Amino acid sequence: MTKNILLSAKGLSKSFGGIKAVNNATIELKSGSITGLIGPNGAGKTTLFNLLANFYTPDRGEVIFASKPIHQLPTHKIARQGMVRTFQVARVLSRLSVLENMLLAPQKQTGENIIKVWLDRKTIKKEEKLNREKAMSILESVGLDSKAKDYAGALSGGQRKLLEIARTLMSDPKLILLDEPAAGVNPTLINQICDHIVNWNKAGISFLIIEHNMDVIMSLCDRIWVLAEGSNLADGTPEEIQNNPHVLEAYLGQ
Ligand SMILES: Nc1ncnc2c1ncn2[C@@H]1O[C@H](COP(=O)(O)OP(=O)(O)OP(=O)(O)O)[C@@H](O)[C@H]1O
Ligand SMILES: [Mg+2]
Repeated sequence: MTKNILLSAKGLSKSFGGIKAVNNATIELKSGSITGLIGPNGAGKTTLFNLLANFYTPDRGEVIFASKPIHQLPTHKIARQGMVRTFQVARVLSRLSVLENMLLAPQKQTGENIIKVWLDRKTIKKEEKLNREKAMSILESVGLDSKAKDYAGALSGGQRKLLEIARTLMSDPKLILLDEPAAGVNPTLINQICDHIVNWNKAGISFLIIEHNMDVIMSLCDRIWVLAEGSNLADGTPEEIQNNPHVLEAYLGQ
C-alpha cells in the first residue's frame, strides 16, 4: 500500500432487501487531502459512509484506516483511532446546551474506566475541566462561543450543522467524514464552513465530503470519487470529473 494512503476501502457491498445500495465500491484517500464523494440521489453515498465507519456491517469488503483493518471494529473504537463523521441530518440534542453537545463527543476519558473512577477522582475532574476548555476554544474558533449555554435546539439549521462539525474536533481526528455539510445552510455560513474546513485541513486533518453543492466540492477537493447506483463511476481531479461525460450523464439521468 502507498505510504500516505490514510483510508482505503475495497469491494464494499451492502444490500437492503433486494436493493444493492452499495455494490463492490472502492474509495481511497491520501493523508492530508480533502476528498469529495458525489453522485445522484440514492447513489449509495451515505450508505458508503455508514460502511466506512461501521454503522452498518458490510456484506463484503474491507476498510483499512491508518494501515489497520477497521471493518470489524465498533464505531466508538473507530472514532478513537481518528475517524469521525457527521450525519446528513445533523444529530445534535436540542434539549442540551451547545456546550453539552460538544462534550458528548467520544474522547479518551479516564472516567470510562470504572476502576480508575474509584482510584482517581481528581484526575477525572481535571479531565472534565480540560474538555470544557477545549470545547469552548473550538466553539470560539467557529463563532459559536456566545451560544455555548443556549439550547442546541435554538440554533439555526446551518449552525446545528456547524456545531456537529465542531464536535468532531473534540476527538482530535485524523479524518472527518462530512455528509452534506452545506445542505440547508445559507450561503454566508456555507462560505464560513468552507473556510473552517480549509483551515483545519492546513492543521493536518483530512476530509471526505459528500455534497451536492458542486461549488463547494469543486473548490475544496483535490480528488473526487463518483458513485452511481451503488458502484464507482469515476474518480479524478475536479477538472477531470467536470469534463467526464459519464458523470454528466449520470446526473442528467436522475
Ligand atoms: N437503512 C436502509 N434501509 C433500506 N434501504 C436503504 C437504507 N439506507 C439506504 N437505503 C437505500 O439505499 C440506496 C442508497 O441510499 P443512500 O442514502 O446511501 O444514497 P445517497 O447517495 O446518500 O443519496 P442522497 O444524495 O439522496 O443522500 C437508496 O435506494 C436507499 O433508499
Ligand atoms: Mg445521502
